[in-house]
Amino acid sequence: MKVLIFSFSNNKVNEDSFIPNEKGLTFSCVDECINELNKQGILNKHICMNFKNIKKCMACGERGWGICLKENKCIMEDDFNKIYNLMSEYDGYIFITPVYFWEMSESAKTFFDRLKRCDAFNDNSKIKGKKFISIACAGGSGNGTENTLNAFDVLNHFMNMEIIGRIPVTSFNYEEQKNEIKNSISKFIG
Ligand SMILES: Cc1cc2nc3c(=O)[nH]c(=O)nc-3n(C[C@H](O)[C@H](O)[C@H](O)COP(=O)(O)O)c2cc1C
Repeated sequence: MKVLIFSFSNNKVNEDSFIPNEKGLTFSCVDECINELNKQGILNKHICMNFKNIKKCMACGERGWGICLKENKCIMEDDFNKIYNLMSEYDGYIFITPVYFWEMSESAKTFFDRLKRCDAFNDNSKIKGKKFISIACAGGSGNGTENTLNAFDVLNHFMNMEIIGRIPVTSFNYEEQKNEIKNSISKFIG
């Protein structure tokens, strides 16, 4: 059992702002997931997508479809195809995004826009049926976590994976949500 963790926040300290921060909620959740996966004997790898070169989908080709529809890969030469191929080597995924404007972050949207195109109609998909957990990390109000988790549900309408956890996290409920993270991770092997 091998699980790939994707995070969509920037953990570099921004001198001008307290957000994004070095150890924000997103990265705290990444750490918690890694600890829990290790405890449960599940091999894992973490990719911070903000440090990858993932360009926006150009909707190239005729009627908005590029080679993604037939060849299940993207024509652009950045980090996307490498990461999409890497996903096939893993048995499950954890997607952890901060909540920005009631939505998943920009790096998440950019990645999933292209993932959907390459995989939704891929008859040889190595992703379909695999388990995943979505985690939405929000500021004080927590407004937007449900909307963000819903977006993962909609994404999965096209991806046909299996949702085993959808976890709203704020700094106020973080401690109790650790339990939720633990329970959801145990469903990878359960
Ligand atoms: C551009 C932007 C938009 C945000 N929008 C929301 C929001 O709609 N709802 C919310 O609860 N928090 C919002 N926040 C706060 C972040 O969700 C919160 O700071 C979160 O902890 C960020 O993740 P991080 O701790 O990993 O940096 C926003 C923050 C930024 C920078």
